Amino acid sequence: MTDHYAVIGNPIAHSKSPLIHTEFAKQTAQAMDYQAILAPLDDFAATVQALIQQGYKGVNVTVPFKFAAFALASQHSARAIAAGAANTLSFTDLGILADNTDGAGLVRDIQDNQHCSFAGKRVLLIGAGGAAEGVLQPILAAQPSLLVISNRSLDKAQAMLSKVTPTQTQLHACAFADLVGQAFDVVINATSAGLNDSQLAIPDSVFASNCLAYDMMYGRETPFMQQAKRCGATVADGLGMLVEQAAEAFAIWRGVRPNTQTLLLTLRTAL
Ligand code: ATR
Repeated sequence: MTDHYAVIGNPIAHSKSPLIHTEFAKQTAQAMDYQAILAPLDDFAATVQALIQQGYKGVNVTVPFKFAAFALASQHSARAIAAGAANTLSFTDLGILADNTDGAGLVRDIQDNQHCSFAGKRVLLIGAGGAAEGVLQPILAAQPSLLVISNRSLDKAQAMLSKVTPTQTQLHACAFADLVGQAFDVVINATSAGLNDSQLAIPDSVFASNCLAYDMMYGRETPFMQQAKRCGATVADGLGMLVEQAAEAFAIWRGVRPNTQTLLLTLRTAL
């Protein structure tokens, strides 16, 4: 018996998820297949229901359906609730279960693959859209000393901060201009500015010496990465996050955690 899984998005042709999950399945000897499915922009729910009818066990969900996936589910993990969005759905006898593995993927990539612990660090999270929202709570759980959320539109950064449950971490929201003179140990770009090669209006001061600058995008060097490199930061792209969030979803579905290192190396070489 082969279990069926898929990733649903629009567009979806570019997705590396089928390759990643097929590799994980091979590595862990799981009897499953995994496809990419294009859903109509206005018909995500019908696409999911059709897959459930066909006996699919679960799906990953990508842009622009992560909020619709959350809304469709009957049960939600704490991290899906914190993000208000889901990237992993499991189809069970209890109904549709929603989870969000994006934040765990980012934290695992930064802490395990980049060897940079968040504990006690000054962290700058740039952006206040869905991507930033998805990683906020998992970053806080890793206990940085300071977390600043900065966004082009300050009101969105403030709104994001207002939803956070207080922790030991000092929290601030600010505009890009307020970052002048501030320095951080980890700077994460969660904006979509790199999609059209836009420069972020952030000052060079944000990159402390020994800073890790992390862009959630992969496949190209963004202006953010170029600026960070010029400022002497260690630069990482989001390929590791992509693979780690997939590994987390795979573990939810199959109860086995695949090894990510070999695959990461293969994907990195292919890029
Ligand atoms: P996503 O789901 O990828 O987060 P989104 O919800 O549309 O997409 O959010 C995009 C984020 O990128 C926002 O934080 C946006 O800033 P605004 O809230 O001010 O719009 C940010 N962004 C996009 N282009 C940007 C640019 N050129 N400079 C700075 N921030 C940018």
